[in-house]
Amino acid sequence: MTQPGADSSVVEYRAQLPPPEEFLRLFASAGWTTSLTAGRLVGALDASWHCVCAFDGDRLIGMGRTISDGALHALIVEVIVEPDWQGRGVGREIMARLVRRCREAGIDQIQLFCAAGKRGFYERQGFTARPDEAPGMELRAE
Ligand SMILES: CC(C)(COP(=O)(O)OP(=O)(O)OC[C@H]1O[C@@H](n2cnc3c(N)ncnc32)[C@H](O)[C@@H]1OP(=O)(O)O)[C@@H](O)C(=O)NCCC(=O)NCCS
Repeated sequence: MTQPGADSSVVEYRAQLPPPEEFLRLFASAGWTTSLTAGRLVGALDASWHCVCAFDGDRLIGMGRTISDGALHALIVEVIVEPDWQGRGVGREIMARLVRRCREAGIDQIQLFCAAGKRGFYERQGFTARPDEAPGMELRAE
């Protein structure tokens, strides 16, 4: 593994699902928790339409994935960069690759959920909040 602070040119991007153990480690590094078992969480990845992983050697340092019908709609989820690697363009490159793949498939409706404090990041990738008269909606867990 490269030491934190190393040049981000060592990062290798691959269109693949993440190794399960590496995914669980990266997921936890974001401070995220879930009621799902590790098996169900990793299993959910199998339904991804496209996934981009960023590696420093064998270490998964970032990822993002898209759930899609391949034609009309795409939802970008689990965009995560390991804390030591944040702020060095890894997230931007992951997003660019996810969006490019959607555009190649002719998908116009690309959506995502923006976590608190991340709006500026997504705005820099060209995303905008939905208008008040046409908001995203959700059914909260019971
Ligand atoms: C959000 C996240 C993926 C960003 O990845 P990153 O590799 O640090 O981002 P980058 O270095 O590629 O930043 C790209 C641009 O966005 C900006 N940016 C990054 N995070 C930002 C933030 N929270 N708010 C505003 N701007 C931000 C950078 O300054 C950079 O701007 P520039 O293009 O003008 O230079 C990363 O912080 C992360 O994994 N956070 C924890 C998990 C998470 O919350 N994911 C999002 C779920 S919705």
